[in-house]
Amino acid sequence: MKKIWIIHNSLHGNSEKISKQLAEGLKDSYDVSLDSIKSISPDDIAKDEPYGLIVAVRIVAFSSDPEIREFITNLDKVITKPISKVAYFSTHALGWKKFFIKGMKKTIEKIGCVEEVCPEYLEVKMQGQKGPAVEGADAKIGEYVLTLKEFMK
Ligand SMILES: Cc1cc2nc3c(=O)[nH]c(=O)nc-3n(C[C@H](O)[C@H](O)[C@H](O)COP(=O)(O)O)c2cc1C
Repeated sequence: MKKIWIIHNSLHGNSEKISKQLAEGLKDSYDVSLDSIKSISPDDIAKDEPYGLIVAVRIVAFSSDPEIREFITNLDKVITKPISKVAYFSTHALGWKKFFIKGMKKTIEKIGCVEEVCPEYLEVKMQGQKGPAVEGADAKIGEYVLTLKEFMK
């Protein structure tokens, strides 16, 4: 099975929960590893030579979390085999604005180790900073699993 890494930098658990839901949906077709960037280093991912990478992006102060962006930039420095497929999703508490994710998009476009970026991203709104997700989120997450399976083929 192809290896996919899912990484998050969850503080309140929202992005971690959705990362787990995506992992659960993908595990019948892929060898999925999931962890917080607080517990792993870019080298841990690089050594696995993953086929796919899914990045959970928490929105902080109207922007993509700078810590996970820095992790991705550092991953690019140590990786030896390009990652074929990269996707990202976001959790946020305010009304969604496209510019929230601009920073993450820029980071991924800048790094050299990525072959293809999923044209569709998932954004999940939370009922406040600590969640839970708004009604209908589970169906949206389920649909994104199908999108990822098609993209990660
Ligand atoms: C310091 C801070 C700033 C935040 N700024 C925003 C923001 O600008 N826009 C937004 O939609 N949500 C904002 N949020 C809400 C988070 O994006 C949301 O709670 C997210 O799901 C947190 O993910 P986590 O539970 O994985 O840490 C902010 C949360 C915190 C703690």
